[in-house]
Amino acid sequence: MQLHFRLEAELRFSAPFTREAEAACTELIAEANRVLFFKGVPKGVETGEVGQIVGAEFADQVVTLTIESGAYTRAHDALFRFRKQIAPKLGKFRIGIREIAVRHFSVTMRGRFPENFRVPQLPFIQNASFAGDTFSFDFAVTAADLENRIPDRFIRLVEEKIEAAAYGGKGEHWELIFESGPKPRHFGGDPTAEMIQRGWIKHAPARGQWIFGPQAVQLFRAFETIVMEEIIQPLGFSEMIFPKMVPWEVWMRSGHAKGVYPEIYYICTPKTRDPAYWEDIGDYFKVTGEVWVDEIRKRIDGPIGGMCYAQCPPFWPFVQGETLANDCLPIRVFDRSGTSHRYESGGIHGIERVDEFHRIEILWLGTPEQTVETADRLHEVYTRVFCDLLELEWRSAKVTPWFMAQEGMVETDTGCGCGGRIGTTDYEAFLPYSTSWLEFQNVSINGDKYPKGFNVKIQSGSDCWSGCSGIGLERWTAAFLAQKGLDAGQWPEKIAKLVGEPKNLFKFL
Ligand code: SER
Ligand code: ZN
Repeated sequence: MQLHFRLEAELRFSAPFTREAEAACTELIAEANRVLFFKGVPKGVETGEVGQIVGAEFADQVVTLTIESGAYTRAHDALFRFRKQIAPKLGKFRIGIREIAVRHFSVTMRGRFPENFRVPQLPFIQNASFAGDTFSFDFAVTAADLENRIPDRFIRLVEEKIEAAAYGGKGEHWELIFESGPKPRHFGGDPTAEMIQRGWIKHAPARGQWIFGPQAVQLFRAFETIVMEEIIQPLGFSEMIFPKMVPWEVWMRSGHAKGVYPEIYYICTPKTRDPAYWEDIGDYFKVTGEVWVDEIRKRIDGPIGGMCYAQCPPFWPFVQGETLANDCLPIRVFDRSGTSHRYESGGIHGIERVDEFHRIEILWLGTPEQTVETADRLHEVYTRVFCDLLELEWRSAKVTPWFMAQEGMVETDTGCGCGGRIGTTDYEAFLPYSTSWLEFQNVSINGDKYPKGFNVKIQSGSDCWSGCSGIGLERWTAAFLAQKGLDAGQWPEKIAKLVGEPKNLFKFL
């Protein structure tokens, strides 16, 4: 990608330029063009690629600079380098720099764009034109935005979109790791339909939401007991409670702020909790029988964040900014304190793909070795549970890491680009009724992504890594019932015993 930047900026000073000051400044410009802007530029880069001040106009207290560059010492970098250089020199003339105003900043990107390239619609991108191999636009930015490197991040974003488009067609990564082989199947029906039929569950009023009756919950709790007895206790995980309302601060650090927006259940707060402010809203309902949603929309603030989506991110503020003592590692915790919520659009099906679901989230952190070892032990126990206790027909596969998928990133090379063990393993169960595979849980080694995002360190100075594993109770239930049916007589003995006789509380007339 060929880059061209052209920046016009006013440097406003505290006093008018004298003839001597102007001469000194002109001399500095020539020197910067020769020396300063070439610092750090690799040998062999063409001169035209490097930032140069191509014009300087002096008018009273203001110097207007025109700077052009290619990809090296980009125009805005040149501007700030130059500012740093002149400040002490002009100090001699008692002229101090007051502020910088960006008059005009235009950028041209030339290279191969995918056919479906769409110009990012951001407020500071103006007069954008895109044709063939050339994308040019103006940046409507302040000097502070330039110092914040917004132009560089924008260009990186465009490059990422181009890379993503090039790899987009290749689909998600999926690589088989383990296959249990066939297991006895006792059922060919859709477990959700059968549970509804038997009165174990009912659809709730909200989309993708179920009310689970006692019989279904007996299954959930039996699975939870297995998870506790076979996995959580032997491996020494301790229970915590993670928040279920996730503010933007968390998602900014976890990376979800990059792309989770189409699937969030957003959370808003009332502008005030003064009852008088809300009285007419209640009155409206009393009189019309309708909730006055349009009016409510005007009286709320936010969204301040969303409902729990990935379950582990809201743990991290507990350790944010801390250094962990060597002797408390590895930390092994879990949370089962509430629901996760995803706006699943067209994908909702039965209890397998829902907007509100129940999950035990296991989380661990420590050195890379400790993190990998925990993941390996989890794989061992999960394998035993699915093969020997649930007697499931299942397989596992290395897939696109969940955090990349949730950030809306595509893999632009094999694996996650970080090599080795980092990544997600999905556990999938066979659903005879739809002859498809259902992802019913995962185990991930997330590398240093979360410790970095939340600034967590280890006493020894070792890298801090973390991992997590989400156990979906609806998914376990769907997988188990799809293969074994709803009659406890057909179930593995231990499961039948743990679940007990289905309790039929309700008799509808
Ligand atoms: N946090 C992981 C996920 O959202 C595991 O539950 O997939
Ligand atoms: Zn997680």
